[in-house]
Amino acid sequence: TGTASGAAEEIPEFVPPRAAACPFAPPPVLAEIREEKPISKVRIWDGSTPWLITRHEDLRAVLGDPRVSVDDKRPGFPFPKKAMAENAHHHPDTLFNTDAPVHTRLRRMLTSSFTAKRMAALRPAIQKVTDEHIDAMLAGPKPADLVQALGLPIPTLMICELLGVPYEDHEFFQYHATVAVSQTSSAEQDRESSVALGAYLARQIHAKTENPAEDTLSDLAALVEAGELTMGEASLMAVILLIAGHETSANMIALGTLALLEHPEQLALLRETDDPKVVAGAVEELLRYLTIAHTGQRRIALEDIEIGGEVIRDGDGIIVSLPAANWDPEAFPEPDRLDLLRDARQHNAFAFGVHQCLGQQLARVELQVVYGTLYRRVPTLRLATTLEEIDFKEDAMAYGVAALPVTW
Ligand code: HEM
Repeated sequence: TGTASGAAEEIPEFVPPRAAACPFAPPPVLAEIREEKPISKVRIWDGSTPWLITRHEDLRAVLGDPRVSVDDKRPGFPFPKKAMAENAHHHPDTLFNTDAPVHTRLRRMLTSSFTAKRMAALRPAIQKVTDEHIDAMLAGPKPADLVQALGLPIPTLMICELLGVPYEDHEFFQYHATVAVSQTSSAEQDRESSVALGAYLARQIHAKTENPAEDTLSDLAALVEAGELTMGEASLMAVILLIAGHETSANMIALGTLALLEHPEQLALLRETDDPKVVAGAVEELLRYLTIAHTGQRRIALEDIEIGGEVIRDGDGIIVSLPAANWDPEAFPEPDRLDLLRDARQHNAFAFGVHQCLGQQLARVELQVVYGTLYRRVPTLRLATTLEEIDFKEDAMAYGVAALPVTW
């Protein structure tokens, strides 16, 4: 499929390991492509050559264009990995793989659960959980692993509360979530994990039919009862929310802390401020700088589309690189500088258009509370290892660190 003749060897492989000189920077080749030919072809694992989008402006044009689809059942769809291509035909419709009007219908069912107002109302609960976990970390042995002490439990507790999933089951679903977001797990492992998670959440939704509460699983149970969603659609929706809701924010908490520890003058700004606007701005800049959704958003063209002087043909695969666009110097001058005081609000760490992150307000509040509390409460926080010793999760859909040993 789509193998270019002649100039084949000139088409760069997508995407090389991230950790080059700087573990926070996108792979340097992305900057080269953005400068030389910002919309160009790249080669992926199956030998096909989808288009790569690297500029901020082009990203918004592509992700905002209704002629660009997420329908992974179309031939030529540029899957991130073989296992996903093999499993695509098993999946029912989800938010991730449907266009309007199906996507619009599915997404509308969740919007009331995720409004900015609802998320802001969660702030006191997030603050309480954050304070308790910092207390526990300070009372425990040194060094501590920040991923286990704060990074994972805080977002996991919050998404459990929001959905109505028992937190006691977190080892079970975190294990399967890790498999599901790994770029190296096999098709069979992916299937087993998604079946296990789907069956688990179907049981939980079922229980809510009997005993409804104020949570998203109860809302989903009501939609199933009303015949608006099948149990398969509802449980898969819950799987997506559970996975997307803890893994991503967890990575931002630990990786963001590492980035700040490596930029002490920036960390000092956060440690010394009690201005919520400064904290909120810092969160946006860290989202931009780290852009943890780093494996390329996958799309396919439904018509010929002219963009940035190139013609993307009907049926061509498209990969949109969020890290490349968030480090586009035309949008963010000196993009390699972590500058908590810059206005980074136009970043695309949550993507753009109709599929942009549903949980972004929740993620923002979680990060504002954690970044706004941790360094003030533990001003001597420091790394208990060297940067070289840290295990970066290169192969995960969301970039992060496997562990972050800290002391104080
Ligand atoms: C979609 C990133 C947190 C739920 C997305 C997408 C990105 C993203 C880039 C777009 C995918 C695409 O268009 O190809 C992030 C980051 C997070 C985060 C960086 C944390 C810092 C969350 C949380 C939740 C969540 C906490 C759940 C409560 C979702 C859902 C979608 C999504 C359901 C699919 C939306 C759709 O296709 O309509 N996220 N996310 N995310 N995210 Fe997040």
